[in-house]
Amino acid sequence: MIFHYRTGMFVLIILLSMNWGCNQKPGDIAFEREKLFNNGWKFIRDSIEGAEQLVFNDSAWLEVDLPHDFSLMDIDGEDAADQIGPFSKKSPGNGNSTGHFLGGTGWYRKTFSIDKKDEGKTVILKFEGVYMESEVWVNGHKAGSHKNGYTPFWINITPFLNTAEESNVVAVKVENIGRNSRWYSGSGIYRNVYLQVTDPVHVGVWGTKITTPEINPNEAVVEAEVTVQNDNEKEVNAEITINIKDANNILVGTVDGSDVIPSKSEAVLRSLVKVENPVLWSLDSPNLYTAEVVVKVGDEVKDIYNQTFGIRTIEFSADKGFLLNGESVLLKGACIHHDNGLLGAAAFERAEERKVEVLKANGFNAIRCAHNPFSDAFYKACDKYGMLVISEFTDMWQNYKNPQDYSLFFKDWWEKDLTNWMMHDRNHPSIIMWSIGNEIFEPVDSTRLRIGTQLVNRVRELDDSRGVTMGVTGFFYPKGWESTTSMFDLLDVCGYNYMIDEVESDHQKFPERIIYMSESYATSAYDYWETVEKYPFVIGDFIWTAWDYLGEVSIGKPNYVPESQGLGFSGNFSGFKLPEGVNIFDLQAMRPSNWPYFLANCADIDITGEKTPQMLYRDVIWGNSNLEINVHEPIPDGMIETAGAWSWPMEFPHWNWPGSEGKLLQVRVFTRASQVKLELNGELFAESELTEADKYIATFEVPYQPGELKATCYENGVEVESKILKTATEPKTIRLTAEQSKLKADRKEVSFVNLEVLDESEQLVPTNDITIELSISGNGEIIASGNASPNDMESFNNTTIKTYQGKAQVVIRPFATAGEVVLQASSQKLTDGVLKIVSE
Ligand code: GAL
Repeated sequence: MIFHYRTGMFVLIILLSMNWGCNQKPGDIAFEREKLFNNGWKFIRDSIEGAEQLVFNDSAWLEVDLPHDFSLMDIDGEDAADQIGPFSKKSPGNGNSTGHFLGGTGWYRKTFSIDKKDEGKTVILKFEGVYMESEVWVNGHKAGSHKNGYTPFWINITPFLNTAEESNVVAVKVENIGRNSRWYSGSGIYRNVYLQVTDPVHVGVWGTKITTPEINPNEAVVEAEVTVQNDNEKEVNAEITINIKDANNILVGTVDGSDVIPSKSEAVLRSLVKVENPVLWSLDSPNLYTAEVVVKVGDEVKDIYNQTFGIRTIEFSADKGFLLNGESVLLKGACIHHDNGLLGAAAFERAEERKVEVLKANGFNAIRCAHNPFSDAFYKACDKYGMLVISEFTDMWQNYKNPQDYSLFFKDWWEKDLTNWMMHDRNHPSIIMWSIGNEIFEPVDSTRLRIGTQLVNRVRELDDSRGVTMGVTGFFYPKGWESTTSMFDLLDVCGYNYMIDEVESDHQKFPERIIYMSESYATSAYDYWETVEKYPFVIGDFIWTAWDYLGEVSIGKPNYVPESQGLGFSGNFSGFKLPEGVNIFDLQAMRPSNWPYFLANCADIDITGEKTPQMLYRDVIWGNSNLEINVHEPIPDGMIETAGAWSWPMEFPHWNWPGSEGKLLQVRVFTRASQVKLELNGELFAESELTEADKYIATFEVPYQPGELKATCYENGVEVESKILKTATEPKTIRLTAEQSKLKADRKEVSFVNLEVLDESEQLVPTNDITIELSISGNGEIIASGNASPNDMESFNNTTIKTYQGKAQVVIRPFATAGEVVLQASSQKLTDGVLKIVSE
């Protein structure tokens, strides 16, 4: 392809009335340039000969609508002893990374035709994410392939299509083979697919780059770089207009120009547009603009492409920290993986948006996408809700962490993948940093610096308006933490995974270094946040993790061991040096299987989106709550709890411990206030003064008796707040609450339904293992069900589920025909929960 490049083409003009030189105005045209291509696929989980052919009998295959994760499908029943639903003891690497799910090979086929009116147009298939290796065939021709399971890709399928109105078949082979991930990846076409049909003269795929190089209160300069593609046999003289519209769709700036684009090539046009009195994108008011790019040849409008963006400034410095629009923001950071809990990796737009909503509601203002690009819907939600993002490229370069992982393809594919990732995502105002990797395992030598330099240079070429970073930890490097210096020198902002103990001394050595804690432990939340508040050069703290995830099983699960055995690993890696020549990840895969655990079990939010007990501590640290109470479950006699680095003690915010009457339970009260009073059933039990050394935690040993445990906190003798944990009575009813009670009759939609078991006063009964039967009727289906338990495999995607801490969750997807959906949840002695959802 010839690359025709022009810069500095246009001068800005602000126009409030437009002269189009023809009667067509873009707003008047129903312009649909791309469609979701998610529905009506056939699927088989098998490697089949000949499935790529146009003529092939797929009538026995399953009908599926995307997004689809085939690792979540129940496994055929032959090996019953070794499997439960989708979980198998044969999962690679003892199942610890994968969460005991299986990958394998899957084929997807979809039949479609191109409308008569679209004859001669350019047809492009866009995939947002397919895990892991994929081949795309159109009418029996191999149209393309892709290796990275998380980066988006597109294929121009025009040459392979039959004439308009004739049938075409797209077939996609997807392989998730061997050990290729440190966490649950999912398998298949788990994100959206789009079919783009445009005139041969069109805006290139992800062909806009919008930045805002100058912003002051009266005026912002928007720089738009637009790639226009000409697929015609002849050159064209294309006229390009960029209209900037505000959140109310009002035109606030425009610029136009033209360029001759030779046949079969593209032109890149840069232009500047002024926007008066810009409304900035911020965390509290995430205002968005749209750049409407109109491409005309002669009088004919050939393409209209809309790109949302925000006007905002970001700055990083060691003396002022991170500034958004000139104001300091301390990053309250969440590391999260891409999966959607009970939905697996399937990236339903609502599930993606919900993740952002829940994190925002819990006080987070920043997310680190561990350790790969996320879906478009996710970044859009961050733009919409005002959430900052560190978007991360990969978990490995050329050195493997698992033998079949992306390291096999890195050398040949990194540049394409990195380019796709950034072109796809670089207009999101939410993204403030590009991370070129997490805990990259390249030896500290010239290879590492060479690759790092190439990546950093390419990132800056594609976008120099954000910080470049990576997450680094000390325990990989035989030569110790000091050997990270040359790598950090390449970066704008340095991510420290757990390396809090190095912060002060590093600052002495490198006073200009800008640091953030790219991963941290929940139990040390106080120390990490104190460091962020104390030092301007430490701009944030990102908890590992904010949302529990499938895979990396039970890294956060505490254990009980005999007192004589003593406590385990403290989580402090400072000073640790890995012996030369050892790949730590080979050790990891040799961990004995943790079956039936399938969650990491280390997070502030559980997989259903509820706060975990550890989040209550952070709520107090961040000042979002004045007072919280957690009660440790009874510890078996003679045992002690070993907490691993990512663990949180087995404590819960309730006072329901039947069978433990008289036994001493540990009660921890979290508060920033300096005095705490504890009362049990109306009688004063204890009082405590907190000092700085207590880190907002007052600890008591309380003999359990049912009733009310009340904590009150005081500052200078004045009551700040009180809270009561009250023992629930017998379970009586099931309550179902739909997060979305009205849906569109569209397969894109889902509704999360939360289930709670209540006593007669409608208080939650925080009991595990109450069996619930689910049934659904009407125009929708259950696509996920279960609870937040780290090991309850039986309840995962089943119609017989159990409660965990008195709760469970069901996800409903409507059919494409409108109507009512009725969900019923029953349990032997309880009053049924019944819920209606309207799908219209
Ligand atoms: C980190 C790593 C994360 C996760 C975490 C907990 O070192 O970057 O991806 O694996 O440990 O195990």
